[in-house]
Amino acid sequence: MERDGRTATILGSGRLVGCRVLLIVGGGIAAYKALELIRRLRAEGASVIPVLTAGACRFITPLSAAALAENRAFTDLFDPTDEGQMGHIALSREADLVLVCPATADLLARMAAGLADDLATTLLLATDRPVMVAPAMNVRMWDHPATRANVATLRARGVEVVEPDVGPMACGEFGPGRLPEPDALLEAVVARLAPGGRPLKGVRAVVTAGPTHEPIDPVRYLANRSSGRQGFAIAGALAGLGARVTLVAGPVCLPTPPGVDRVDVETACQMAEAVERALPADLAVMVAAVADWRVEPAPAKLKKDEGAPLLRLVENPDILKAVAAAGPRRPRLVVGFAAETGDPVAAAQRKLRAKGCDLVVANDVSGGVMGGDRNRVHLVSASGVESWPELPKDEVARRLARALAARLTEANA
Ligand code: CTP
Repeated sequence: MERDGRTATILGSGRLVGCRVLLIVGGGIAAYKALELIRRLRAEGASVIPVLTAGACRFITPLSAAALAENRAFTDLFDPTDEGQMGHIALSREADLVLVCPATADLLARMAAGLADDLATTLLLATDRPVMVAPAMNVRMWDHPATRANVATLRARGVEVVEPDVGPMACGEFGPGRLPEPDALLEAVVARLAPGGRPLKGVRAVVTAGPTHEPIDPVRYLANRSSGRQGFAIAGALAGLGARVTLVAGPVCLPTPPGVDRVDVETACQMAEAVERALPADLAVMVAAVADWRVEPAPAKLKKDEGAPLLRLVENPDILKAVAAAGPRRPRLVVGFAAETGDPVAAAQRKLRAKGCDLVVANDVSGGVMGGDRNRVHLVSASGVESWPELPKDEVARRLARALAARLTEANA
């Protein structure tokens, strides 16, 4: 595709037409590759707004970034013209993707710490858009426990990390830390943003996650060990594929994935109401470990010297079953989870029928799955069982989001 006079020599296939990329360039020797990346992004039809840190301006100039982007390049947090219109907030919210390339060790550390002492870090703190980082640094800096911890923190917050390449570095050492070539960076952006990579655009999804707390008295409650991580990761992965996601979250301390609307609840009854309000939707993924029973809570704190209380348990509403039986408001695809300590597949097959859903994701929680980082799941539907290897919960989420997108597309065809 030929764009115009200035980019006529670059051929692209228009895979990013209509996509807006806010490109934050960090101060490393690899900054020169960001210029080439701007050319490639433009050739694919993306609009690019470059933001250069002070360090980046030592390696490349705002003028070259602006010329290639055919857009103004920003460098200054305190520009009076922009700040008069809340410039940095607007910049951070209008993009489809915020890409940090190259992300230096210093920039990653400042992102992880939540600093906002220049335009780049302020944008990164103010954005509610998906963020992708492409780290580039010396091998020892990349392997340093501080950098490892910063990268893990960012990943846990939903930031996508493009793994650096292994190879000879500008400093003469050899190892992981090289910025991938512009072609590879472009493909990472395309995978995230291209219409083919956003198969859930226009799809409304509701996801439940976490435990519920059922009060016993004003200070005590019944709970379970669910961390909410798998459900949050799934909500983030669905949003990453373009879905409009409402995440109904039980009481957990997890950051909201980018692009997701979150509703916090405490009890199963509140969760049921919030899910009901989120309908109609096209897709429901019920990941929460909902308490099966609640207690008629005592109005005042139960006292020990009054003897052990007899807790009368009342059954909670089955949210998944209700969503699957919602008549005309039933989502086209209703997915349940089955956390089991026995045979997960047999239990999932029973739940598939009993709850009237289209797919049950079964997992064995007898090990450290609840609260852990990894999961091994089986997808159980009327058409059979698909078992996946043990994977990080983020990867399970990404694969599941793609599998659900494929099912929705099949159902449409
Ligand atoms: N679920 C729900 N509402 C409930 C109980 C469960 O929406 N009150 C959903 C969960 O989010 C999950 C699925 O139902 O998607 C299966 O949950 P699970 O606790 O494994 O099943 P139960 O129906 O509670 O059966 P059991 O505890 O006997 O295994």
